[in-house]
Amino acid sequence: MALDLVRTRARALSREAWADRLVETAEAPADDTPAMPPVEVQKLTNLQSGRQTMGGAADWYRAFSALLEANGIAIDEDRRLLDIGVGWGRMLRFLLHDLPIENMAGVEVNPALVAACQETLPGGEFVLIEPKDPLPFEDDSFDFVINNSLFSHLSPEQHMHTLDQITRVTRPGGYVISTVLSRRHVIKSLVENPTPGPPWSQVEDPAALLASFDAGEFVFMQTRQGRMADYGMAVVPDAWILNNWASRLEVLDFDHEAPGQSLVLARKPLIA
Ligand SMILES: C[S@@+](CC[C@H](N)C(=O)[O-])C[C@H]1O[C@@H](n2cnc3c(N)ncnc32)[C@H](O)[C@@H]1O
Repeated sequence: MALDLVRTRARALSREAWADRLVETAEAPADDTPAMPPVEVQKLTNLQSGRQTMGGAADWYRAFSALLEANGIAIDEDRRLLDIGVGWGRMLRFLLHDLPIENMAGVEVNPALVAACQETLPGGEFVLIEPKDPLPFEDDSFDFVINNSLFSHLSPEQHMHTLDQITRVTRPGGYVISTVLSRRHVIKSLVENPTPGPPWSQVEDPAALLASFDAGEFVFMQTRQGRMADYGMAVVPDAWILNNWASRLEVLDFDHEAPGQSLVLARKPLIA
């Protein structure tokens, strides 16, 4: 089914019912839901597929929607939205409830994921980028810029490059909704886990890592080399975000209770 008809069906449901519909059809898309990429492509982003990965995305969509609502922010259907590190477009499927696909764009460093978005979400603008290049959009192009599980992987240098680009392409008064790993994730993955998996297993002194995190230091564990050398596991304290984002974006809210990663809501000031 064409995505404009999918969207008509999505609009006829509540957000909650649309999220449920996407999860229940994750293994076998129906005529009222978007096509899914092959399982091996879905697994490229988080090793998950089907109901498991769409269930995680539904959790994000509910927390994202609740955070906007709590801050009095509506997504009018003429708004433009960009997803940075869009993967295969998991989150954009949920956002079809809010926006037409023509108002959505996504960027990715993995060509197979860009191709998956182009094939399964036709009408959206999907662009392959290099990590250190400027984003391929004009200044002030988007009303909303989202990123899920991106800043939880970037080195401090890549984080700041990406943040600068996000700030540039967000219109004044536009919103940036990001996810980060925070203190509770360090506790769960490292302190409470007797056998942490990589890259947590490389941490020799969990108490020292937690202490430096509590002192406001960015924790980064590199997992890749070459073009992706600035990719790994990143845990970012609220204080670091407040300090380093302040000259670019106004941080409005954190949600540290979200079921997956924590959410950060920020706005580009009207006057720079
Ligand atoms: C954990 S995945 C999350 C994908 C998607 N947001 C989702 O939740 O389904 C992180 C994604 O960011 C992409 N990525 C890595 N570095 C990036 C960068 N510097 N700019 C844009 N995307 C990047 C990866 O290729 C990967 O698809």
